[in-house]
Amino acid sequence: MNNKKNQFLDSFLKESGVSEKLTDYPQPLETWGKKQLKTPTMSEENIVEKPLELSSEDLSSLEDIRIALENFTQCGLKRYAKHTIIGEGITDSPLVMCIGEAPGADEDRLGRPFVGVSGQLLDQMLHSIGLSREKNTYISNILPWRPPGNRPPTQEEISLCLPFIQRQISLIRPRAILFLGGVPTQSLTNRTDGITRLRGCWLEVLGIPALPTFHPSYLLRTPIRKKEAWQDLLSLKKRLFT
Ligand code: URA
Repeated sequence: MNNKKNQFLDSFLKESGVSEKLTDYPQPLETWGKKQLKTPTMSEENIVEKPLELSSEDLSSLEDIRIALENFTQCGLKRYAKHTIIGEGITDSPLVMCIGEAPGADEDRLGRPFVGVSGQLLDQMLHSIGLSREKNTYISNILPWRPPGNRPPTQEEISLCLPFIQRQISLIRPRAILFLGGVPTQSLTNRTDGITRLRGCWLEVLGIPALPTFHPSYLLRTPIRKKEAWQDLLSLKKRLFT
């Protein structure tokens, strides 16, 4: 491709919000060394077998979960992600466990949850009520792998990965859970309402009080909603500190 075409493609991708070219994805092992690299298709991403059932004897530590996920072959997302991202922060009964949707490009590159711009906003939100991943908070996601191009996860992908986050909750035993957005709220409760209706309503997951609020990336796009998110944070603070 000549330079002009390259420039056109670069600015087209930039304007379309694409931050990474498809060739940045790791290629499946079996295509290495072949002349024609295969492009991932939706059906290949969604290799889904039957959902897993995990008992407490299977995974008795976070390290067990990490090893199980590293060896988990049922979810096709793993093939295109650079890192398996489990969680980060205080693991022994923290005040709060934040649960987001799935890693994005920055998280996949660095192998840590919530480290991009939405992660910076999340850190600020937590700091504003005396919380941080260094002191008293654990941060994780429903999915441990980035969906290609940041597309929304499918229901099958969520169902396959759900037992792992449920097991993390049971092992970590936070005092409260903060759901970031609709995907974690609906996946871990039996509620089907959208996040706009559920935010600010205290729910329960595995016997632990859980509060849904807006996802930080939604707040970055829709700052007018920050006022409601602030009310949710105050509700969390009251529950934790009074
Ligand atoms: N959005 C999420 O839901 N999780 C992350 O880790 C980063 C962005």
